[in-house]
Amino acid sequence: MQDGTFRLIPMQESDLDEVLDLEQRSFSEPWTRKMFLGELQGNAFATNLVLRAGGAGFGEGVAAGALLGYIMFWVVFEELHLMNLAVRPEARRHGIGLALVRHALTAAAAQGVRTALLEVRASNTAALALYRKLGFAQKSLRKGYYVHPREDAVIMMRELLEKGGHTMLSEDPVILDLVRKEHPEFRTLEDTHQRLEHQLAELTRLHFLTAEEEQRKKRIQFDKLATKDKMAAIVRQFKQQQSLAAGPSS
Ligand SMILES: CC(C)(COP(=O)(O)OP(=O)(O)OC[C@H]1O[C@@H](n2cnc3c(N)ncnc32)[C@H](O)[C@@H]1OP(=O)(O)O)[C@@H](O)C(=O)NCCC(=O)NCCS
Repeated sequence: MQDGTFRLIPMQESDLDEVLDLEQRSFSEPWTRKMFLGELQGNAFATNLVLRAGGAGFGEGVAAGALLGYIMFWVVFEELHLMNLAVRPEARRHGIGLALVRHALTAAAAQGVRTALLEVRASNTAALALYRKLGFAQKSLRKGYYVHPREDAVIMMRELLEKGGHTMLSEDPVILDLVRKEHPEFRTLEDTHQRLEHQLAELTRLHFLTAEEEQRKKRIQFDKLATKDKMAAIVRQFKQQQSLAAGPSS
């Protein structure tokens, strides 16, 4: 989307006045500046993009360079989380929302992401229709999750790549025991994983989470994934060494 009609570029702090204006026009429970800054400054997993009109503007009343929309998503190992999406009201129903989400899906698939996830208000028919059009399906419902007004969240999911590959937890327990003996850092990672699981369980027990608690919960989930990924790498390396040490089998 860099064809003269549009410019899709990384969101900067200097975009935030306009972004916040669109956010407030788009949501009944808008993100705060602090939440946007959290994504821009302190989150290595986040991609935050703004779409601006090119030299010709965008229809009546939308000048060249004007903000048309933004998309924010996290790519963490095998998962894409769509965090925020909005299109300027005057520019809606022109395929921009679709193009922004497609961009995120393509970027994520190129990084090996297998699953895309998002949550949306149950009454947001526009967004629900857009996501369904892109192949997302309802995975679950979080009862009364949103406030202002109180409403259910629909959790939607779409697979991007075929399932397969390794998962740590299905590993042979005998191998895991050997790895624990040889690699003390594996035990440390297991402890970390367990600690994160407890933290997550605590947060999950709270029926309603504030937006900041929700962000914290996502971070814990991602830290957990990162820990699991490191553990899996140690196991893979261990198994490789074992097979090298054993030599050819025939
Ligand atoms: C949801 C939103 C991003 C859609 O952006 P958009 O650029 O208008 O969407 P598109 O033009 O790409 O629409 C793609 C498809 O989604 C569906 N759709 C979009 N808006 C719709 C609406 N108001 N009613 C019904 N279906 C709609 C249609 O199937 C549409 O295809 P069509 O126009 O060929 O019928 C936009 O309405 C918005 O910013 N809403 C406020 C913020 C928001 O809800 N964000 C999502 C949070 S989860």
